[in-house]
Amino acid sequence: MTRTGAPAVLPWGRHYLAVRPDHFRVDYVINPFMDPADQPDPARALAQWQRMVATLEGLGARVEVLDQRPDAPDMVYAMNLGLGVLRPDGSAHAVLSHMRFPERRMETATARDWFARSRSTAYVGRDGVGAHFEAGDAFPFGDALVVGYGPRTDELGLKQLAVELGVRVRGFRITHPGMYHMDLAFNPLDGRRAMVCPDAFDEESAAALLALVPEPLVLSEAEALTFCANSVVVGRTVVMPACPDRVRAVLEGWGFEIVLVDVSEFHKGGGSIRCLTNPLDIVVGRDLPALPGGSVVLP
Ligand code: ARG
Repeated sequence: MTRTGAPAVLPWGRHYLAVRPDHFRVDYVINPFMDPADQPDPARALAQWQRMVATLEGLGARVEVLDQRPDAPDMVYAMNLGLGVLRPDGSAHAVLSHMRFPERRMETATARDWFARSRSTAYVGRDGVGAHFEAGDAFPFGDALVVGYGPRTDELGLKQLAVELGVRVRGFRITHPGMYHMDLAFNPLDGRRAMVCPDAFDEESAAALLALVPEPLVLSEAEALTFCANSVVVGRTVVMPACPDRVRAVLEGWGFEIVLVDVSEFHKGGGSIRCLTNPLDIVVGRDLPALPGGSVVLP
């Protein structure tokens, strides 16, 4: 809490990796939003992406840009390249994604090269071997790394993630086909608040997630399917692709400023602003407690 009683702003979310959409297409179907008959317009997509990056930079965030592989049309969704953290000893580390679908697995080789320039790297599973993990399923909140599993990340991967990072992992089972990543149904807003769409999860996981968040902004299924939870928070500003009136009223009542950025071309691939940006400034020991050896908590 600050002296005014408002919960502390998120300390992370001021440094991102993004992939310039030079080869963004919908070539295959791995989520319910994708339809190869409905292709993004390349010029419009690039303009929307540039506006998003300029908006984040205007808020004081730093955005690093990685070139898109021509053979990886979904690589624009940089959130899924891996989970980077800074460790208590000052070292930088990244857990690379092991994507559920072979269509995206080549992205990890490029992500590994990029992360390896400044960090040690590790895998949860590897191509064809072991558990899947997609970083869009994992965000710090409260005392743990909150991880959605089911559609993309395997339950088996949670233990490896906890051990690799030396943190507590709280797993929540996702069951909604349209909210196949955690970041479509959950978004940390500050120290006490987060957007949560209970309809994304099985009953026990929905109840456990609501219990973890002291002041949840509970989203209906219809609200979440506008991609409003797939937003990025920079201090007290929420950069959102859409904001239903009721959600706006709650956020503004809590003192957040809302900035809308249209990234509709990217909704054709099933992702929005959070999916297009990967936070690089999550600190173990600040944003989630260090727990050597790690642990997994399931509902
Ligand atoms: N087409 C991509 C996929 O299905 C979209 C990824 C969205 N990213 C996210 N972090 N939710 O993998």
